[in-house]
Amino acid sequence: MRLLEQRIITDGIIGENDVLKVGTFLNQQIDVELMSACADEFCRLFKDAGITKVLTVEASGIAIAAITALRLGVQLVFAKKSVTSNVAGAVYSADAYSFTHNHNNTLIVPCAYLGQSDKVLIIDDFLARGEAVNALLDICESAGAVAAGVGILIEKAYQGGGEKIKKRGVRLESLARIASLDVKNGITFEN
Ligand code: G4P
Repeated sequence: MRLLEQRIITDGIIGENDVLKVGTFLNQQIDVELMSACADEFCRLFKDAGITKVLTVEASGIAIAAITALRLGVQLVFAKKSVTSNVAGAVYSADAYSFTHNHNNTLIVPCAYLGQSDKVLIIDDFLARGEAVNALLDICESAGAVAAGVGILIEKAYQGGGEKIKKRGVRLESLARIASLDVKNGITFEN
């Protein structure tokens, strides 16, 4: 998606350890107009997939997932990374090791929020090695829900996450696919 790619070029900062910093429009300050345009695109791509629920993981995925859910006219569920006093009853859980943050997260979704009748669209801001999305797919499986697709804003296409998802037979749509991230040569995209 041209608009998102252009914003990554103008605002993205290449940090250490292959991390792309996009705090000005995605990870801390959120450009809601840009997110709205991205949600429209996810809606166009998945409007015929019979989605009944959007699923993401806290924190940065929530904004784009919420606008997408609004457009699709369905509820949004987000996985928490720890049990809090607000989480009651039985839960589905799956582990996701974050290479970016170098620690393990146990993703948790109450069983009441996901079930066999659901067709789920997983939305997230980034796809790198795919640990987080893989864990969300595990949770859908545990719930007996159908994972109808995965929508990603920024995929670092060279880190293998996309292959993992496709191997599981799940449709993947990424709005910007980064082919390389290099302080010297900048950011390049692939289709
Ligand atoms: P990983 O293998 O690098 O850990 O990536 P994975 O696809 O499992 O995503 C794990 C987390 O890392 C996600 O955030 C994802 O948004 C973030 N992430 C991965 N690569 C980058 C990057 O280059 N830039 C930025 N800004 N984020 C990246 P999370 O752990 O769920 O944290 P949160 O930011 O959503 O709170």
